[in-house]
Amino acid sequence: MANVTTGKKIWMNGGFRNWEECQIHIMSHVIHYGSSVFEGIRCYEAKNNSVIFRLRDHMQRLLDSAKVYRMNVNYNVEQLCDMAVNLVRENKMKDCYIRPIIYRGFGAFGLIPFDSPVETACICWSWGAYLGQEALEKGIEVKVSTWNRMAPNTLPSMAKAGGNYLNSQLIKMEAIGDGYGEGIALDHQGLLSEGSGENLFLVKNGKIFTPTTGSSILPGITRHSIILLAREMGLTVKQQNVPREALYMADEVFLTGTAAEITPVCSVDRIQIGQGKRGPVTQQLQEGFFRLLRQETKDNFGWLTQVY
Ligand SMILES: Cc1ncc(COP(=O)(O)O)c(C=O)c1O
Repeated sequence: MANVTTGKKIWMNGGFRNWEECQIHIMSHVIHYGSSVFEGIRCYEAKNNSVIFRLRDHMQRLLDSAKVYRMNVNYNVEQLCDMAVNLVRENKMKDCYIRPIIYRGFGAFGLIPFDSPVETACICWSWGAYLGQEALEKGIEVKVSTWNRMAPNTLPSMAKAGGNYLNSQLIKMEAIGDGYGEGIALDHQGLLSEGSGENLFLVKNGKIFTPTTGSSILPGITRHSIILLAREMGLTVKQQNVPREALYMADEVFLTGTAAEITPVCSVDRIQIGQGKRGPVTQQLQEGFFRLLRQETKDNFGWLTQVY
């Protein structure tokens, strides 16, 4: 596995197990029907300690996602948070990506999920910049996907469910196949939604715009953080419907996500955005975000959990 160092231990159904032992039955409900909910969380090596970013918010979103799919989870948000901290400690990781997952295991044949046990696991591994380190500075080229995000009355986008990522895979495969770094999907009405695994922001005349939860987005925790940080910096942020053409007219475009962090977009459909490189607002937000994560500025929002 390129660019990845895995932890030695995985937490699974209540205890730590060796990485190689963590396998599931081929008849597990999740394999056939995509019945999982999960999170992606980052732990950063900061000045004095390793810190997990917005751990509680991620675990709350995990439980909220499980609730939508009527999964009865045996752990509450505090227990899940403690488990994640202990997992990082157990693996002696300094800087890593944390992936809790709740899924339906093997209990019954067929679609009805209720007789398949709800299982919980958490994995960690070290993972560099998802869209590449260079992308954080220079930006990436994106295309508007021919695939839409799922309509609101099909698969709920606010729940971070495994099955949703079939849609994301179509968007991502098309983009990569066509020579782009990422794809931007429209919602079922043709308005801008988000990337395959990132939320979308535009800057125009100094104001920041991002699509609403009405446009089939996952309400990203990085998205929320950027909205708060931008407002703290005195910038105006509007969550509203955004038409596709606003992308081409924007001064700056960037993507946010736990994996992608804050990645500038330098062109959309080969149309240059702004100066074709990271713009000043994007840079200001990136610097504010990374300074906070490295504990160089005060954690005013209480977003950081100390690991050691
Ligand atoms: C579809 C989708 N949108 C947006 C995001 C960004 O969310 P967050 O900032 O919580 O990682 C993700 C990443 O989890 C995602 O998969």
